[in-house]
Amino acid sequence: MTKTKLDRRLFMKGAGAASFMAGAATLPSTSSVAQGMGQMHMSMAYDLNEEFNRIGSGDFKWDAIRKAARPYDVPFPMGVADMDFRTLPHVTAALQKRLNHHNWGYEAAPADYKQNIVDWNKNRYGEDVDPSTILNCIGVLDGVTSALVTYCDPGDKVILHTPNYSSFFSVIPGSLCELAESDLILGDDGTYDFDYDDTERLLKEGAKAIILCNPQNPTGNCWTADQLRRLGDLANQYNALMIADEIHCDFVNKHSKYVPYASLGDEYAMNSVITKSASKSFNLAAHRTAYMYSSNKELMARIVKEGIHHRGLMHTMGTIACNAAYKHGATYMDDMQAYIDGNSHFLEKFCDENLKLIDFKVQEGTYLAWLDCRKLAKKLGTPEGDDRVGDMMKKFFIQKAGVNINPGENYGRTGAGFMRMNLGTTHRKLHSALNAIKSATDAL
Ligand SMILES: Cc1ncc(COP(=O)(O)O)c(C=O)c1O
Repeated sequence: MTKTKLDRRLFMKGAGAASFMAGAATLPSTSSVAQGMGQMHMSMAYDLNEEFNRIGSGDFKWDAIRKAARPYDVPFPMGVADMDFRTLPHVTAALQKRLNHHNWGYEAAPADYKQNIVDWNKNRYGEDVDPSTILNCIGVLDGVTSALVTYCDPGDKVILHTPNYSSFFSVIPGSLCELAESDLILGDDGTYDFDYDDTERLLKEGAKAIILCNPQNPTGNCWTADQLRRLGDLANQYNALMIADEIHCDFVNKHSKYVPYASLGDEYAMNSVITKSASKSFNLAAHRTAYMYSSNKELMARIVKEGIHHRGLMHTMGTIACNAAYKHGATYMDDMQAYIDGNSHFLEKFCDENLKLIDFKVQEGTYLAWLDCRKLAKKLGTPEGDDRVGDMMKKFFIQKAGVNINPGENYGRTGAGFMRMNLGTTHRKLHSALNAIKSATDAL
């Protein structure tokens, strides 16, 4: 690319951001947009303000909800946990290069695949992952399932601290285990903590494993080393396996820190299995590529032998995509964190200033916002028929604001009154969605 073209491209990106700021100033109460910007340094190498059109691609987040919600239009789908941004250009370039080789027989992952996993975790989090213990899996949930079916016997109880990611509610019975739900405790600052006494009670009753979501979907909690150690000490004491799903670890807002569970010390690393993927960070979920590891080599060997979901063979394009992401994606990820941090702060300020029925405090990690809509639920009254409170609110947001967000009950029994909003979208779209919600709630 010539220098003039490059300069023009960079100028256009800057212009995009500037016109967004200027445009936003004309929207009601959006002078606070400025506060949402620049929380962290951004390289400006990637145009995250680009309005990337996903309509018609067949994805769940956009096409499925727009079809399901007919006759209502849903210009702001903020449900399914993937992002609206163009992925890292190196990912697309690597996939395009492989496409030119017109043969699709059985194939190994790229030679440096495991090394890039090791480097990513070391460079960003100081975590030492032993490459010899890394196992491929076609999804993080498949890794969790493999660990469960290997470690647990049918009928064993598995502890899930809720609210927690909805698919764990099917993964546990899908692994022939039983759910043991333990309510998280909501603090005044909007963060949650484990109920250690309740956890110990369940362990005493014989629970065999804990599924830990770190950072937590949907609450956004980044668990501190102290919290993790306290929980881990209980797991170790009662010989229950800690299965840590750390798929959201690359999304950490400015004031927070992600502590890798396996970095707590040998005794925690030996009694745990960690599952991760580049799929959330670089929006590669459809490529079905993830990985798991543990210091406990014996357990990993058993998982290979007995974990019915575990397959060493991977999708060719998936491993190429994830490899390119980890190899070239550090700056992109830094920018993404800054961008999501901006969205999160904007949302908090917007709620404080404009949405008296919705409370929100900036989440520590993930790109998911856990909105406290209990006042709104009260105002809306009683749900019709078999609807839950969250279903009633979901309909309200779709029908009156064109916004799709997820009912809190999807994440456990304490989720009623909360809604999960996906912030993995452009500043502009978020602002427009919030303005639509403001109009809808003002009219109540
Ligand atoms: C905490 C968590 N784990 C796992 C998944 C799904 O991962 P995969 O598609 O790799 O199974 C998600 C997706 O939203 C998630 O939020």
